[in-house]
Amino acid sequence: MSEMTLATRVAALAPSPTMALDAKTKALISQGLDVVNLTAGEPDFDTPLFIRQAAAEAMNRGETRYTAVGGTPRLKLAVSARLKEDAGLVYAPEEILVSDGAKHSLYNAILSLTDSGDGVLLPVPYWVTYPEQIRLAGGEVQFVQIDPTHGGELTVNDLKRALRPNSRGIILNSPSNPSGAVIGKANLQAIAEFALDHDLWVISDEIYGRLIYDGVRAVSIATFPGMRERTIVINGVSKSYAMTGWRIGYAAGPSAVIKAMANLQSQSTSNPSSVSQAAALAALEGPQESVDEMRREFDRRRRYAVSRIQSIPGLAVNEPKGAFYLWVDMKGVIGRTIRDRRITQADDLALLWLEEGNVSLVPGSGFGVPDHLRMSYATSMERLAEGLDRMERLLEE
Ligand SMILES: Cc1ncc(COP(=O)(O)O)c(C=O)c1O
Repeated sequence: MSEMTLATRVAALAPSPTMALDAKTKALISQGLDVVNLTAGEPDFDTPLFIRQAAAEAMNRGETRYTAVGGTPRLKLAVSARLKEDAGLVYAPEEILVSDGAKHSLYNAILSLTDSGDGVLLPVPYWVTYPEQIRLAGGEVQFVQIDPTHGGELTVNDLKRALRPNSRGIILNSPSNPSGAVIGKANLQAIAEFALDHDLWVISDEIYGRLIYDGVRAVSIATFPGMRERTIVINGVSKSYAMTGWRIGYAAGPSAVIKAMANLQSQSTSNPSSVSQAAALAALEGPQESVDEMRREFDRRRRYAVSRIQSIPGLAVNEPKGAFYLWVDMKGVIGRTIRDRRITQADDLALLWLEEGNVSLVPGSGFGVPDHLRMSYATSMERLAEGLDRMERLLEE
């Protein structure tokens, strides 16, 4: 048989750009090398015990069969209650869809809202998955460059510059992966008015909404007048409850869109794992102290890492307001030669740090900004300190 021809949609699909470095890091670790891995996109904590126990109990009760495609009625009620408590969002069960992780919720939403040729406004830096999902839907990615004078926060003027006649929607991610930036209330209000003026839908990825620091509470764009009708809110249990492997995310929005997304899900993946749904139910309904404890620990590491980065010549960072990443500006290192390697962009520095310093960060090229790196602080304080020492030592040479 001659070689099989791939469909255009997957032939053009970029592999995750963070994967190459991740694979290299893991290969080095498996060879026995002591690499400090600062690339993690998931909490380093265990899923709280009561959540794991709830899953085991559900399994032993026989909750091992198909459930309703879009999630059990009880889980939808729990999602509804949590959205209300955390963000003041009011959604009925028929306005909620539970999927296999927030990434899957996003995929369902983007495929349901984007027609071939539709423009989707995407602020830069972006989480690596958004542009590929937009392209898979046949949409046109319209990058929105953020004016750096606002500390990395998206403003309506950035969107105005990027708007095109075929723009149909905006993807918001606050707090942001990779920058940790949070869009403040005033900016959100202006963005909401912009969306209304230009008849744009909004997909608001609020997966890091529980990980905001300095006592700030999450504000959802769906709470502004007229926005509920044109917004799909995305959230899930992965980051807030250290449940990345369980694969439970959810979407809330107008019932017609949620129904279309559920139809899509019914013909592709069906219901998310019944056992994981039971675990998510316990997470959402149970005691929330573990979320606060995790946030306090992340906050401690955040402040430490920011002060360390700010003291390393050539590196700069804005204090992130949420999530668990530092978005490190390495422009001050460009043009230098360290150990016979010329640094022209963040990819070179990431490779130098990994191969010569045994410390791994993700270069910003995959997030649309090749002169930044993403440093995760989802690792212990000791490893974080060791990683920062190694980064600093190489730059001092
Ligand atoms: C911004 C953002 N959205 C969505 C996700 C996906 O979350 P989940 O693991 O629930 O699919 C991630 C995970 O890295 C993320 O960073």
